[in-house]
Amino acid sequence: MYRTHTCGELRLSDTGKEVTLSGWVQRVRDKGTLLWIDLRDRYGITQLFLEEGESKPELLQAARSLGREFVIRVSGKVSERESKNPNIATGEVEIRLTSLELLNASKLPPFTIEEKSDGGDELRMKYRYLDLRRTPLKNNLALRHRLSIETRNYLDSQGFYEIETPYLIKSTPEGARDFVVPSRMNPGEFYALPQSPQTFKQILMVAGYDRYFQIVRCFRDEDLRADRQPEFTQIDCEMAFVSQEDILNTFEGMARFLFQKVKGLDVGPFARMDYATAMKLYGSDKPDIRFDMQFVELNDLAKNSGFAVFDEAELVVGINAGGCSEYTRKQLDGLTDFVKKPQIGAKGLVYVKYNADGSIKSSVDKFFSEDQLHGWANRFGAKPGDLMLILSGKEESTRKQLNELRLEMGNQLGLRNPQVFKPLWVTDFPLLEWNEEAQRYFAMHHPFTSPKTEDIHLLETDPGKARANAYDMVINGVEVGGGSIRIHDRTLQKRMFSLLGFSDEEAQNQFGFLLNAFEYGAPPHGGIALGFDRLTALIAGFDSIRDFIAFPKNNSGRDMMIDSPSAIADAQLNELYLKVTAPDK
Ligand code: AMO
Repeated sequence: MYRTHTCGELRLSDTGKEVTLSGWVQRVRDKGTLLWIDLRDRYGITQLFLEEGESKPELLQAARSLGREFVIRVSGKVSERESKNPNIATGEVEIRLTSLELLNASKLPPFTIEEKSDGGDELRMKYRYLDLRRTPLKNNLALRHRLSIETRNYLDSQGFYEIETPYLIKSTPEGARDFVVPSRMNPGEFYALPQSPQTFKQILMVAGYDRYFQIVRCFRDEDLRADRQPEFTQIDCEMAFVSQEDILNTFEGMARFLFQKVKGLDVGPFARMDYATAMKLYGSDKPDIRFDMQFVELNDLAKNSGFAVFDEAELVVGINAGGCSEYTRKQLDGLTDFVKKPQIGAKGLVYVKYNADGSIKSSVDKFFSEDQLHGWANRFGAKPGDLMLILSGKEESTRKQLNELRLEMGNQLGLRNPQVFKPLWVTDFPLLEWNEEAQRYFAMHHPFTSPKTEDIHLLETDPGKARANAYDMVINGVEVGGGSIRIHDRTLQKRMFSLLGFSDEEAQNQFGFLLNAFEYGAPPHGGIALGFDRLTALIAGFDSIRDFIAFPKNNSGRDMMIDSPSAIADAQLNELYLKVTAPDK
């Protein structure tokens, strides 16, 4: 028997029991006559104890030869500790050893395997199996497991079927880049890995499975960031015979259920905001509504006073940072540097300090009178003690820059507590997005998203203005999920493809299977997919998804542990028709 208990299980009430434990040696503390070992497994850490005179000499000798991460099996009696550790669940007891057996030795690990490690990112990814032994990662994977189980419980209770769809599918030109897989049996032809099961789930609706879900891997060959991995997991869902309202309610219900189950938290009903309002008030389609600081436009008050920067700008817009009028020169310079960073790209920052004594002072005093500045303060709803921060320039880029500044101020003022959750539905996204480079429209969500009925006529006159039945679930400024009501009519779907620049032939070639399916009684349908890695990280209060995935890739898309991608042998290339070799002489 390897163990009677786990290393996280024993309590004071177990005192006197003879137990057997197995696990990894986290640490040996040898104080000469007394010796302690911290034994770790997935469940926790239990202290083992040996004492010169009391314990057998060979036991002490065996203990002294242990190194970090050795695997051992021990037996002994549970006893009360003299000095207790209130920080761990087993901290009141220790095991007085009667036997110790080495199950396996270990090389010295390249970094410490404790709550906080001294290993750098790349090293920890290379030795992921060691990193995964650390408590924070174990907690992350435990949370992920719990969320997947509760997701299944919720969706099952709502009558959803979990149905798998294929991973070897067909490359499509829309969306991100595909990862492709050569087909040995079909020379010169390729499968693509799915960016999402979008078309399959729609076909399942045509097939009559009116509530589908899948916790499914998706693959996208795109640039990576903290919240993006080339392979990631979605909670992918689709429903038939539903309105947008039904879908929002079902998945708001799911998110609330999950927060309740894993955090014991009622996040309350979701706020709602349409895309146009989100862009106007926050400069973002995923506003963080844990704090206000909404955008205030100043064109009518700030232009035509001789300040060329404002006069030439399409938009003058700012935010009011409450209580910040005492920001020092250095802090203000810091903010200016922040907005001028190349990733943000503003040319400069104008500030107006509404001092606590009621006086007002700005970086543009030369051009504006105190009265004018008071007029601005009024517009901002600013009080003495506040600081107004103003950007100007092209409308779209200025809003984006101000969004970054707003989030930065939120950070500086501690308004983005990761343990506070403010969910939001952003609705009525535009249907299409104009791409300058390609000189054509792209679908903002995907080509299967339906336009709002009242906007269908715009497809013929001003397609860029048409809104879609598309929505995103946003929590704390993170796009957790997105979906739409789909087009279920073949003619409208064909019209969409032609707007996106597909000829009839190309549309048939790429999506013929879907268009064909639509000829056999497609029900009205719609759905959503939530980013499962993002949701898990968010619930835990983190921005980066990497430590919520057991085996993630680094920023260059490499798996450091298995060292992939890697070259393959010529023979394999030949077999896949990827390399033409010279014929044998
Ligand atoms: P979308 O492309 O918006 O929609 O993806 C849904 C959600 O998946 C997450 N996500 C990612 N997470 C980690 N790494 C990535 N590279 C990554 N890309 C996306 C995000 C996002 O909100 N088929 C549609 C859904 C639908 O219409 O039903 C789709 O895939 O959290």
